[in-house]
Amino acid sequence: MASSHLLSTHDLSREDITSILDDAAAILPSHASLRQIDPVLAGRNIVLAFLEPSTRTRLSFETAAQRLGASTIVFHATGSSVEKGETLRESLRTIEAMGFDALVLRHGQNGVHRDVAQWSSMSVINAGEGTVQHPTQALLDASTLREHFGAIDGRKVAIVGDLRHSRVARSTADVLQKCGAQIGYCAPDELVPTDAQFAEMQRLDSIHDCCEWADAVYLLRIQRERLAADVTINDAEYRSRYAMTVDLARAHRELVVLHPGPVNIGMELDGEILDDPMCLIHRQVTHGVAVRMAVLQRLLHS
Ligand code: NCD
Repeated sequence: MASSHLLSTHDLSREDITSILDDAAAILPSHASLRQIDPVLAGRNIVLAFLEPSTRTRLSFETAAQRLGASTIVFHATGSSVEKGETLRESLRTIEAMGFDALVLRHGQNGVHRDVAQWSSMSVINAGEGTVQHPTQALLDASTLREHFGAIDGRKVAIVGDLRHSRVARSTADVLQKCGAQIGYCAPDELVPTDAQFAEMQRLDSIHDCCEWADAVYLLRIQRERLAADVTINDAEYRSRYAMTVDLARAHRELVVLHPGPVNIGMELDGEILDDPMCLIHRQVTHGVAVRMAVLQRLLHS
């Protein structure tokens, strides 16, 4: 990761990924016990611009930055000049002129992050890009799985749900494959991704097949806000074929379950599973802070 930006998992080699996960693993114990962390980013200013809804990713980046001693501000598009017709470029140039070192950006349009990185002097860190990229989510998923299994190599991960609209599926599959995992996917026809990335991967027919095949089942919510107007999902049919139910979980105690959040309880996952040791969803959140600390340190500590 020679660049000062983190734009895409496609820019990361297996060595880059391993080295970020090693840094996160070293940070994890002290971060998780909330012990004082070395304020290596003291004096650095980071702006978090989330132009799409976010709870955990924004809080996670903010926590990570503050634990390293950096100062943060959050830029909200609502209530800002964007609502008065200002372009994103002008808003970001205004922020840049105030002296920020890094921009953590979430935006709904594919390609915006790379474009901003070309003209901005700030380090651009992708916190979610349309349907294509969410690199720190992919790294935290890999970090969580590596901790659980000891190694990712040779593990089978089944991604289930709305892969078509999912930047998480695309980036997490890329990172896990680079780490040697085998990826299978499972979705109704309307939610199957059509891009080349998935063409060679195994398509599984139902969550039951996923539970037989995989070591880890990675659930995704249906991104209703991105569904085409002519696509309707029958919730009961969806649940019968794609949801992780308590019964299924009980029958497959050897599995682990992941989800990037937000979870739609009672749709893709039964709520009781959240409290089960087989569920790594809250562990993913903990890894999220450590991985983002590792990334921020790497990009901004000189
Ligand atoms: C995801 C996202 O926004 O890409 N959530 C997250 O960042 N943890 C997935 C989603 O919105 O379903």
